[in-house]
Amino acid sequence: MDNFVVSARKYRPLEFDSVVGQSHITDTLEHAIENNQLAQALLFCGPRGVGKTTCARILARKINEKFGETDENDFAFNIFELDAASNNSVDDIRNLIEQVRYAPQVGKYKVYIIDEVHMLSNAAFNAFLKTLEEPPAHAIFILATTEKQKIIPTILSRCQIYDFKRIEVIDIKEHLQKIAIKEKINYEEDALHIIAQKADGGLRDALSIFDRLVTFTQKNLTLSAVTENLSILDYDCFFRITDMALNNDIPNLLLVFNEIEKKGFDPQSFIASLGSHFRDLMVAQNPQTISLLEVGESTKKKYIEQAQVCKPKFLINAIEICHQADINYRSSKNPRLSIEIALMQLASITTHEFTSSKKKSLE
Ligand SMILES: Nc1ncnc2c1ncn2[C@@H]1O[C@H](COP(=O)(O)OP(=O)(O)O)[C@@H](O)[C@H]1O
Ligand SMILES: [Mg+2]
Repeated sequence: MDNFVVSARKYRPLEFDSVVGQSHITDTLEHAIENNQLAQALLFCGPRGVGKTTCARILARKINEKFGETDENDFAFNIFELDAASNNSVDDIRNLIEQVRYAPQVGKYKVYIIDEVHMLSNAAFNAFLKTLEEPPAHAIFILATTEKQKIIPTILSRCQIYDFKRIEVIDIKEHLQKIAIKEKINYEEDALHIIAQKADGGLRDALSIFDRLVTFTQKNLTLSAVTENLSILDYDCFFRITDMALNNDIPNLLLVFNEIEKKGFDPQSFIASLGSHFRDLMVAQNPQTISLLEVGESTKKKYIEQAQVCKPKFLINAIEICHQADINYRSSKNPRLSIEIALMQLASITTHEFTSSKKKSLE
């Protein structure tokens, strides 16, 4: 059997072109290299698993390529990587600073990548600061961190700062799709969508969830297997709840909620997700806003269908009711009841409409 390589490792981009969702950064870096406008110290900040280390390595390689070093082995000599998470002592930094003083034997630059730089001890930070203040002309520093707020201002002010973004659900989904095709994995688009949503903007997380589910489903990523494994309430559940609310079906709403709670779902996340569902129906009502709906194609059809049987007034009320319940949940002495009240209110929106229009006609 082949050795299994996790997708995050196997699919680490080697070129800026294949970095997903950070073109504001990769374009700028590419441009800066081309025009010799690269700063001597760069700081890559952003959430975990969005491409900071990946881009640091690509950039380091590009710098070496651009300035005459083409032999893989030789330019490996000119790239130094320090993981500050495990090498954060003042001695570690001193060793590094010691190396910085010497010009490269081949090529023009030595590139130092200091990953997780916020983990450096105070003493290490201070030792490093002097080097950063007056770096030798041949040194380029690429620092990376998930916690920009922990970096002291004196360091920040000496660096050109690049803010990496969370990656959009749709971009993550497309990336997973490419990998699924390459790896000959069966998938339903909506299943990939759910994984992308669950990853909350982190591509590394998306890939590790993906790997886990590929194993669990034996290479058959269906929507139902994925929602079950991730303990996510599937879209269908929210479609059914909406139907119940439209039909003023209080008893079944309470029963469904009871089931959901028994399965271990957090009631507050449930009501918040229900609110998002109504919001999604709202944007699905209008072709102009349909692009704001972040779901796969087959689920999109269902949204458009259900949106047609909901009046905008119903949806606005429903969103408001869920939103309030979400806000009130923590402060309520009986939080479960606050969700039940919300469900009863949801089931009464259309009765209310009916009685008030009847009242009007009687008047
Ligand atoms: N923007 C991205 N484009 C493509 N792959 C990515 C991206 N961000 C993360 N990855 C994937 O996740 C892995 C870890 O990314 P990494 O650059 O180490 O994240 P960070 O340093 O921001 O925590 C990479 O090997 C790659 O497979
Ligand atoms: Mg990293």
